[in-house]
Amino acid sequence: MDLAAAVASLLSPKASMDPYPAYAALRSAGPIVGTGSTYFVSGYDAADSILRDPAMGTYDSRQLDEHFDDWRENLGVKLFVDSMLRQNPPNHTRMRRLASGVFTARRVARLRDVIVEQVDEVLDELEGSGRDGVADVVAHLAYPLPIAVICALLGVPPEDRGQFRRLAEALTTVLEVRFTQAQATAAHAAAQELTAYFESLIALRRQEPRDDLVTALAAAHDSGGDKLTADELMGNLALLLVAGFETTTNLLGNGVQLLIERPAQAARLRADPDLAPAFVEEILRYDSPVQLTERFAGEDTVVAGLPVPAGSELIIFLGAANRDPARFRDPDRFDPDRAGNAPLSFGAGAHYCLGAPLARLEAQVALPALLRRFPQITAAGEPGRRDRLTLRGWATQPVTLGSRDTASVD
Ligand code: HEM
Repeated sequence: MDLAAAVASLLSPKASMDPYPAYAALRSAGPIVGTGSTYFVSGYDAADSILRDPAMGTYDSRQLDEHFDDWRENLGVKLFVDSMLRQNPPNHTRMRRLASGVFTARRVARLRDVIVEQVDEVLDELEGSGRDGVADVVAHLAYPLPIAVICALLGVPPEDRGQFRRLAEALTTVLEVRFTQAQATAAHAAAQELTAYFESLIALRRQEPRDDLVTALAAAHDSGGDKLTADELMGNLALLLVAGFETTTNLLGNGVQLLIERPAQAARLRADPDLAPAFVEEILRYDSPVQLTERFAGEDTVVAGLPVPAGSELIIFLGAANRDPARFRDPDRFDPDRAGNAPLSFGAGAHYCLGAPLARLEAQVALPALLRRFPQITAAGEPGRRDRLTLRGWATQPVTLGSRDTASVD
């Protein structure tokens, strides 16, 4: 595949199936290559240095105003732009500090018990959902677990969880490099629904405050000053909810699939759950739940020897950087024993994922528990990929659970 074909393939819908051959073709042309004012980054060091460079901005409202007249009319786009994900200093610094202050390591550590309890519950559901012995991992594990955990953190009542898979699926299409008008319209409608939901939950928490993130972030807004505007409060709540599970769902689904395809590795993890951190890191590297992010160059610069003029757009393929042979030996091999594994799946620098410890913890608890409860779990047909590249995961994953290991500790 030549460079033009690789770029065309990565920007087409078929990239969601298997982007890795196109990544390899891209990388063979260099760690960063430019076509017009757009640069494609596939090398690990280049990606890492761009993400850590304060002169590389994320697409904020100022940037969007330069390129599009009407982006504010789509509430889906606007919600993300109002969140910290799409802010640059000083706004990003302010919002990030505020969010880090409420999303503390103590709160995440406290969630361990919730995660263990929820894993047990979803495994029961997975077992109960089986028809003719076949159950869908995406519907009954990969979605419900992260939704339950993020809802517990935010303070969303359990009875309201049912709507979020549908809303997030519609909303996150605007995070893809390309999306259709129909997807934009659906994202707008989903954002309206989600905003209305959070407005009523915020009102409830103002009346009856609790020890949760909705209460804490609403209080930050209410305290006045320049802490958090109403739009920023809504944008960050939506980001936390949606980023908090769509991504983790993909980590769980991608992980289950890799393990089912590698029974010997699955047996190792089943026998020794202490291997979970190394397995989860390798799952994150091998099939990253977030495959790309974007930046623009705030000034003329040079990346990996290539001049990049101010204003250029950079598409950073995290999934390609994670398979860079200059950084990872034998990168196309799934190897949980690799030393110094530090994938870029959670990004790097100022926007490094706020939820990384939580996402890791969920997968580290859930994957060994699944394998211990169902030692004979196997694929029951072809899984179906989601038609997304940025958020890479499975839409359906039929499995045969086999008989339950009643002696398992899960
Ligand atoms: C496997 C699961 C996850 C993956 C792969 C992931 C990936 C990422 C990546 C790559 C970024 C940086 C984007 C950029 O630099 O443009 C990011 C940012 C972020 N993530 Fe995650 N994420 C995951 C789970 C979570 C969870 C569970 C939460 C919240 C509970 C969360 C909240 C956030 C937030 C708030 C940001 C924005 C940080 C900022 O802009 O300063 N993520 N995530």
